[in-house]
Amino acid sequence: NSIFNSSSLFFIRPPTTDPFRSQSHHLPPKAKAAAAVISDNLVFPDPDFSQQAHVPNFHKYAEMYKRSIEEPAEFWSEMASEFHWNNKWDQEQVYSENLDITKGSIHIQWFKGGITNICYNCLDRNIESGNGEKIALHWEGNEPSHHSSSLTYNQLLDRVSQLANYLKQNGVKKGDSVIIYLPMLMELPISMLACARIGAVHSVVFAGFSAESLEQRIIDCKPKLVITCNAFKRGHKVINLKDIVDSALSGSSQNGTYVGLCLTYANESALKREATKWQTERDVWWQDVVPNCSTKCDVEWVDGEDPLFLLYTSGSTGKPKGVVHTTGGYMVYTAATFKYAFDYKPSDVYWCTADCGWITGHSYVAYGPLLNGATVVVYEGVPNYPDPGRCWDIVDKYKVTIFYTAPTLVRSLMRDGDEYVTRYSRQSLRVLGSVGEPINPSAWRWFFDVVGNSRCPISDTWWQTETGGFMITPLPGAWPQKPGSATFPFFGVQPVIVDEKGKEMEGECSGYLCVKTSWPGAFRTLFGDHERYETTYFSAFPGYYFSGDGCRRDKDGYYWLTGRVDDVINVSGHRIGTAEVESALVSHPKCAEAAVVGIEHEVKGQCIYAFVTPVEGVGYSEELKKSLVLSVRTNIGAFAAPEKIHWAPGLPKTRSGKIMRRVLRKIASRQLDELGDTSTLADPNVVDQLIALSDS
Ligand code: WTA
Repeated sequence: NSIFNSSSLFFIRPPTTDPFRSQSHHLPPKAKAAAAVISDNLVFPDPDFSQQAHVPNFHKYAEMYKRSIEEPAEFWSEMASEFHWNNKWDQEQVYSENLDITKGSIHIQWFKGGITNICYNCLDRNIESGNGEKIALHWEGNEPSHHSSSLTYNQLLDRVSQLANYLKQNGVKKGDSVIIYLPMLMELPISMLACARIGAVHSVVFAGFSAESLEQRIIDCKPKLVITCNAFKRGHKVINLKDIVDSALSGSSQNGTYVGLCLTYANESALKREATKWQTERDVWWQDVVPNCSTKCDVEWVDGEDPLFLLYTSGSTGKPKGVVHTTGGYMVYTAATFKYAFDYKPSDVYWCTADCGWITGHSYVAYGPLLNGATVVVYEGVPNYPDPGRCWDIVDKYKVTIFYTAPTLVRSLMRDGDEYVTRYSRQSLRVLGSVGEPINPSAWRWFFDVVGNSRCPISDTWWQTETGGFMITPLPGAWPQKPGSATFPFFGVQPVIVDEKGKEMEGECSGYLCVKTSWPGAFRTLFGDHERYETTYFSAFPGYYFSGDGCRRDKDGYYWLTGRVDDVINVSGHRIGTAEVESALVSHPKCAEAAVVGIEHEVKGQCIYAFVTPVEGVGYSEELKKSLVLSVRTNIGAFAAPEKIHWAPGLPKTRSGKIMRRVLRKIASRQLDELGDTSTLADPNVVDQLIALSDS
């Protein structure tokens, strides 16, 4: 049991079981696979895997973890030294932080005074170390029969530099913001890197967001230009993205934010140029201008604490928040987490199915992998088009070794049957990853047994837009896994579980997941609203960053995420605020009031369930339901559409007018015997009325 007996590990209670007890190297090969899974719900790493891993055992992890906590400045300085800095950061103060709201304003800084550039570190640095001819990006289009293409690090640098020069010529300077509204074309990571190269702050808006959402973001961050494409294909559908941009830009200019340049990539496999609506004074075809620019572009050297990007995300109240990440800490943190949590080696081919429009795509399609000089697959389409075998077809085509996806996809492919998986070889795979929501143990098992042939460890990575990178994650090969548990904290991360009074709990417990000290990848503020940053994340439990998630720690010290404890719904791994959906519903002229809750969904994890009170005199009809759903689609985007509209003559409210969501959740999930105390409701009859209307 000695491996886990590092008594200095006061902060975590390590597994009490010796993870290597059953791993006899003398077992015949056949018996070895069977030994991978044993009792106690522990899944042991293959000894051959562990042996080659960056962190081969728990002991090594414990040693590194301890150092990262006791000497964070030294630990992270070493990690940072792998990168190019024009000027070293302030050695006396590698980081500075205040996470305690009772002691003053919240602030976090890492590598202040260090002068660097993340684009340089992703591209030029890898080229200088001899990897210029290595493939950086493989692009796979929506149609399997279509062409695919790839860019080496040299070629990627040329493309990025051309766009960066174009941006500079058009007056984009350090600190200016640029909105990127693109699907998963190569041009998306190229645009992000081009902004980073010249110190501009990118704000990528997921191409599934509606015109109104895009407009809101344009008004908030006032970009110098918008980068988009005319249209793209997703599965069988063609989406005319430019029409959405047109509407957002005309809306924003009516509201006082005029954007005079819309750089549009002509994606002619989806829509011809001639068929695209055009405003000559504002719109410019990418292909007409960018290729004419020089492939040499000097980088803009920035401070470690200069902003790199804004990314809007949903909270429990109000409009989406612009999460701000800065350069140095984010760079070091995404690179280190990528390397260790996926046991990345230079020979790997890596594919993450996330879209760059979300944080996962920022940190683990673009920056983390490219900083490591990895070969990354970028896929334009949907994972089950033209059939549920597409992912494995792509895995075989590019010999993908690390495959990172979301539980919702795993569950949906699992439902389609094993044959779609087993007809492909998948021999190249060595590490699997999961992100976005808790992965239920049965989906975990299927992912492990069927997709990974019981060979590949699964990194179930818990993190958030706000955290920049992985916070709690397995390190493959280092310790036994428990299906459904994100296991242990990454280096430098001190998670704590607190009770409702904010008191830290020890040992086996469950409560609210907080973090005690800063880590390099942490977000620094909310764009234009530092006060909201402080109240949303640092006021609930003074002294800690509060994640908004519930969490349990088991007797062996493993962490189990249990989902959001605030009014944020996680649909297919996408964060949606109940308040946003409610305001979209209420904007419908026939809706008087709406309350939205999340309920369990077999494939999506959670889905949106809306209670709606129509305005006086308006009857219930299927037609009205449809137009209410449409209102959410146009206000936010299709991914936020409610699964069900439940008519409500009234909503259950307390005497002070607060909606009792707890009761609504129970009605929505048909747990009628668990309604609890409803006597404090202003009108308890409302509940019976709602139950009576359950199937209407
Ligand atoms: C949830 C996505 C359990 C969680 C990277 C968090 C997870 C929210 C996991 C952040 C996981 C993400 N296990 N829950 N492995 N990963 N979550 O900002 O509720 O889009 O708060 O970042 O997703 O979502 P976001």
